[in-house]
Amino acid sequence: MNVVFCASEAFPLIKTGGLGDVAYSLPNALVGLGVDVRLVIPAYRAVLGGVEQLRVLGWLKLSGGREVRVFQATHPQVAAPLWLIDIPEHFDRPGDPYTDATGKDWHDNPARFTLFSEAVSRLATDDLGLGWRADVVHANDWQTGLVPAFLSLQANAPRSLFTVHNLAYDCQFDFGTFHSMHLPGHWWSVDGGEYYGRLSMLKTGLVFSDLITTVSARYAQEIRSAEFGYGYASILEANAAKLVGILNGIDDEIWNPQTDRHLAHRYHVDGKIRAAKRANRQALLKAFDAPAVALQAEGPLVGNVGRLVHQKGIDLLLEAIPPLLDTTDALFVIIGSGEVALERQLRGLAQAHPERVFCYIGYSETLAHQLEAGCDIFAMPSRYEPCGLNQMYSLRYGTPPVVRETGGLADTVVDATPRSIARGEANGFVFSDPSTPALTQALQRAFELYRQPKQWMKLVKQGMRTDFSWRHSAEAYLSLYRAD
Ligand code: ADP
Ligand code: GLC
Repeated sequence: MNVVFCASEAFPLIKTGGLGDVAYSLPNALVGLGVDVRLVIPAYRAVLGGVEQLRVLGWLKLSGGREVRVFQATHPQVAAPLWLIDIPEHFDRPGDPYTDATGKDWHDNPARFTLFSEAVSRLATDDLGLGWRADVVHANDWQTGLVPAFLSLQANAPRSLFTVHNLAYDCQFDFGTFHSMHLPGHWWSVDGGEYYGRLSMLKTGLVFSDLITTVSARYAQEIRSAEFGYGYASILEANAAKLVGILNGIDDEIWNPQTDRHLAHRYHVDGKIRAAKRANRQALLKAFDAPAVALQAEGPLVGNVGRLVHQKGIDLLLEAIPPLLDTTDALFVIIGSGEVALERQLRGLAQAHPERVFCYIGYSETLAHQLEAGCDIFAMPSRYEPCGLNQMYSLRYGTPPVVRETGGLADTVVDATPRSIARGEANGFVFSDPSTPALTQALQRAFELYRQPKQWMKLVKQGMRTDFSWRHSAEAYLSLYRAD
């Protein structure tokens, strides 16, 4: 089975969020199952600086006469050979893969990812004459939404599978742009990629692919409703027969508290969890220059890592914190970057409560690991969450998550009730309403159980014992690749 797996980011070369994690772990897991994978990503400047054995694989001639160079490279952590699409004017630039320094989408995103998608489709059908052809092309999110469309233009094309990681991002462009890129006229139709007078790169992926997957079973249901469908619910409903939900896994080598090189104190489920977590908590607080009173505090330490955006419900958390500081002994630590107003609000909270609230505005892989290990509770009040990885990292690190009942959060976290605790099923706290009072109430329930060490440890261990590795999910993808 030959598979081209294409994405716009892949850890450890370039990552802005969970897509980068998936584009690293899933191909690795597929290789482990014997699949012959080529991982295709853009040759961003950061990527070219991070790979080994870089060599030119060949030149592809795209429609409109444009030629692009393709590199092959390796990376010690990436099991599959890397194919990098080199279009310097579009990818050789510093910073974020999707946005400029001011946070605005790069103006040429439609062109960048259209060219990338066409190149991927040509590689899959062996335009370079390498003697390697894909049986399946696995595309991810809008940046590769045109891949299934380009494949549909070819006779005997490989099957295409399109995974939706986040339906809220679609990338649309107008007819002038469409025309300037010499794209086939029939794509500009209601049955193609046309979407309210524009072309949607997400829609082309949904419509032209042979199969659509999304990253949890719950999200696969949710996106067929107006509330979660972001305007695409009816298209997904019409394509429901080819829509499947497969929960993401996590990389259980990188995210393993027993071997995690970012941690000062490693631990495992059968060891002295409480002592190790306490030591990691002290180390985490010290990393934030916390004063002595914080280091001595006994209250639960609540954490969050992620993009500071509306999706993540981070505003609900920031609103919940001040009253909780008055009524409980909890402490809070948040790592993230995103919307300027949320960053400002977070910074303000930390400045106003230097003994109880800590923040790092920015991206830090190391701090993210230390936070998972050092916190007692992880708060993830997302308004929607296609899968979510951090709640699974938290479970693995013995840090019970408090989550909203949506998407992958609903599929991975079992609410602690007397019954679910007694049955040994509970691993966290779940609330339904996307509101500050509902989140506050769930956090208070968590704080209450935290004060009952025996019960708490049951929850902690239940989470730590659960297998969230990629194996099951990779097998599920493999059977979809094989299905007729
Ligand atoms: P999403 O993809 O919607 O951002 P996920 O939970 O699927 O959410 O994945 C987010 C990934 O990005 C996790 O691996 C998380 O640790 C990481 N991440 C997000 N923001 C930061 C940050 N500021 N510092 C370190 N890691 C971060
Ligand atoms: C998206 C989603 C997140 C998911 C990730 C990887 O960014 O927001 O929920 O875990 O993709 O699939």
